[in-house]
Amino acid sequence: MSTLPSSLRVMRGRTQIATLDWTAIGTAYQYSKSFLAKQPGPRDGLGFAHPPHPDRMEHGPIHPYFANLLPEGPRQQRVAEALGLRPDDAFGWLAAMEGSSTGDVWALAENASPAKETKLELPDRFLFHNLREQIRQAKEHATQSIAGVHAKLTNLRIATDPHTASKVPYGFAGTAAILKFGSPETPHLAENEAFFMDLAKRAGFKTAKNCVLRDASGESALLVIRFDRGPRGLRVHQEDACQLLGLHPYDRYNVSLREVVAAFQRVCASPMAAALEVIAQAAFAYLVGNTDLHAKNFSVLLSPKTGLVEPSPVYDVVSTLLYSPHEARMALAMDGRDTNLNREDFLAFAESFGVRRPALEARLNAMTAVMPGCVDRILDLPFDPRTLKRWRDEARLRTEALST
Ligand SMILES: Nc1ncnc2c1ncn2[C@@H]1O[C@H](COP(=O)(O)OP(=O)(O)OP(=O)(O)O)[C@@H](O)[C@H]1O
Ligand SMILES: [Mg+2]
Repeated sequence: MSTLPSSLRVMRGRTQIATLDWTAIGTAYQYSKSFLAKQPGPRDGLGFAHPPHPDRMEHGPIHPYFANLLPEGPRQQRVAEALGLRPDDAFGWLAAMEGSSTGDVWALAENASPAKETKLELPDRFLFHNLREQIRQAKEHATQSIAGVHAKLTNLRIATDPHTASKVPYGFAGTAAILKFGSPETPHLAENEAFFMDLAKRAGFKTAKNCVLRDASGESALLVIRFDRGPRGLRVHQEDACQLLGLHPYDRYNVSLREVVAAFQRVCASPMAAALEVIAQAAFAYLVGNTDLHAKNFSVLLSPKTGLVEPSPVYDVVSTLLYSPHEARMALAMDGRDTNLNREDFLAFAESFGVRRPALEARLNAMTAVMPGCVDRILDLPFDPRTLKRWRDEARLRTEALST
């Protein structure tokens, strides 16, 4: 990108709420006068932790709220190179993304138009390679980038032609979706995530709808329906726990589970239900060996139906134990403890937030109840049998620890 803008419009849904300027010392955002004149409520600003106010806010390279909308890791490096951006040029990234970030807060240069979605068509013998190439040649890399380290295409809309519709579950055609790929470090990521998302659903969690797609070369990818997009271009307000806590994404592991629960309780319409949900998600992650439940893997949504803030459906549920069997520690410690946890640990922790024991007991019972069926089915996953058997042994121990 040779002609970078020096000012971006910051939008919340279809309304401009602020401007973000590139300055000599970093960036600065300021709520617009016309927006403030409408006397917005404390939750109508950038994020719940950043209510509207008239002051200009100076930040080093970038305000953490925006940093959390950007891609991370090797993917960021590769796309930055292709676009001629420095990987640490957060302002340039935001401009290049043309509003394709998650949630309803987005930024766009003055005269730019929002990124168009890429149509996902699935003809016979389709190849993910062709889709990636189409995006690369059209220079749409940046508009396919949202937070997270895994390679993915995020600004997709599933085509509605009968052929495509017949290849995805009923109701998927026409919706906005993410296509998530594995890497040499995380082979069979799609099969892993689909398996554990399904288990989470059976255990009573609301989950992001998804399915595994396999192309003509045998490559697999996970198709995930976006819960932050609705009909007719509707964008849903969504924040992860880093955004709720005002933290940069690099701090996603430097948070305690207590801080995440407290942040959810501050913003959710039902603080007790929110605490119960976060703790249940953590217990499930422990049960299945998902050691990557960091602060960006917990989110809240502002429901367009009810106008209430509630925990989002669960996403990014992967058993990392299938990749690193010896790294069994939880991403976020529960009062200083991240391994060898049991039922009483979770119940006592929940009680300290005022959650009634029977409420979490019911959730723990539901998740341990689905484990016996799961430990049989796990052997169907395309991992080597030794890894799967080791996973099964560990899962049995953890199921016992979380049972009555
Ligand atoms: N179904 C969804 N709808 C809307 N937003 C989603 C959905 N799934 C994920 N996201 C958003 O996209 C981000 C990246 O997705 P995800 O966590 O699956 O990717 P990842 O690369 O595996 O992440 P990580 O860096 O945690 O490994 C999430 O942090 C979340 O904000
Ligand atoms: Mg994630």
